[in-house]
Amino acid sequence: MLEVGVLVSGRGSNLEAVLKSTERGYIKGARVAVVISNDPGARALMVARKHGVKAVALDSSGDSREAYAAKLANVLMENGVAPGKGLVLLAGFMKILPKSFVDMYEGRMMNIHPSLLPAFPGIRAQHQALSHGVKVAGCTVHFVVADVDAGPIILQKAVPVLDGDDEDALSARILTQEHKLYPLAVKLFAEGRLRTEGRIVRREE
Ligand code: GRF
Repeated sequence: MLEVGVLVSGRGSNLEAVLKSTERGYIKGARVAVVISNDPGARALMVARKHGVKAVALDSSGDSREAYAAKLANVLMENGVAPGKGLVLLAGFMKILPKSFVDMYEGRMMNIHPSLLPAFPGIRAQHQALSHGVKVAGCTVHFVVADVDAGPIILQKAVPVLDGDDEDALSARILTQEHKLYPLAVKLFAEGRLRTEGRIVRREE
């Protein structure tokens, strides 16, 4: 069984999509062992509890980036999400992780980002896309490396930008696809169907 740890900061809709996918057997051989939020008030913690998953609030205030990452690693390991064995999902997690932590979970930590990377990394990606005037937007699931939103791309899905879109409308169209893409990436990982060679991630049938 693949033990999965999910790091969150907010709403938790991607977390919920992954949890529902494990519950209904779409993702096989994996279970979410723990959800950790840096924000004790995050809705995502309630989502975890609603699904019977351990929810941990780990406040980051006052900690250096390294000290906080060490605490995160402890909670993950205590819950069976071991480096080289488990899987860590960033799902709307708003803290930047230090290289020491990223290296520990190399090739076993994913993030979902609401743009077609490498376009529009960082915050408010949908706003960046609208301001740039692109006609196609989308979302990306990628492995995490020390540089933000820069790791090997696992899956992407495009959506159109429509006349009259504002940030909310475009974000909602992208989010619908995020909720399919993240569970698919976890499913492929759990089934051992992702092969990474340098920057290139291949999906095996
Ligand atoms: C999503 O748009 C995700 O792509 C981005 O942060 C947002 C998190 O939303 N990284 P939620 O907490 O999963 O609802």
